[in-house]
Amino acid sequence: MRKKLIAGNWKMNCLKAEGIALVQGITDEISKAGTLPFDVLVCPPMSVLGFVCDTPHAGLFIGAQDVAETPKSFGAFTGDVSAEMVADLGADFTLVGHSERRTLHGETNEIVHQKAQNAIAQNLTVVICIGETEQQREAGETLAVVAEQIRGSVPRDATSQNCVIAYEPVWAIGTGKVPTVADVADVHKAIRDELSNLLGAEIANEMRILYGGSVKPSNAKELLAVENVDGALIGGASLNVADFWGIAASQL
Ligand code: PGA
Repeated sequence: MRKKLIAGNWKMNCLKAEGIALVQGITDEISKAGTLPFDVLVCPPMSVLGFVCDTPHAGLFIGAQDVAETPKSFGAFTGDVSAEMVADLGADFTLVGHSERRTLHGETNEIVHQKAQNAIAQNLTVVICIGETEQQREAGETLAVVAEQIRGSVPRDATSQNCVIAYEPVWAIGTGKVPTVADVADVHKAIRDELSNLLGAEIANEMRILYGGSVKPSNAKELLAVENVDGALIGGASLNVADFWGIAASQL
């Protein structure tokens, strides 16, 4: 049984006090709800990750948005933060390969693969993001693109415990546009099939595949009911408690 994962990606948002307040607000909702049938994760920027980890957050997982490409934990890599450093702060997860990293920082599948390996080696659960551009969708290349990203980005020792996939169509991120539920179902099925080719059916069947891109309280229930959708990766709507919890509460 795959437990759904409701994950917030704060991107480059929140000063210290805002980040702490957001985590306190989400933790309050979790404690009011009692035992949750899903996992909840927030991924603050590196600048506040340590503060957020040090804020009481029972029932809430905390993750980074990225880790360094080098497999080394320490060294002359100005500006980078290693997976070991992220784990040392108390984080449980990290994102890698978000489309903003792939597009704005030229990250290839090889780089994403290396980052994912580094995260797994430090016992972080890695959320590997994939998804097609609008141009690729219009050219009918969506399934081929995501299959290639899976083959290129997912380490061969990935398991359902240490790895989550997030399917985020690039054209749906921050735009208010979402694919039809039929399209989401097709892509998630194709991702599961490709994971099965790569890792075997048993692991593929247990691995969570999140949908991301303009998820809001108003569309969460419908998107999260699609077959093979095992949670959501939420950007804009994860920046306030009401919207983020509105999405999570659709699963209560
Ligand atoms: P969005 O972002 O929810 O603002 O569309 C999703 C993401 O980039 O993870």
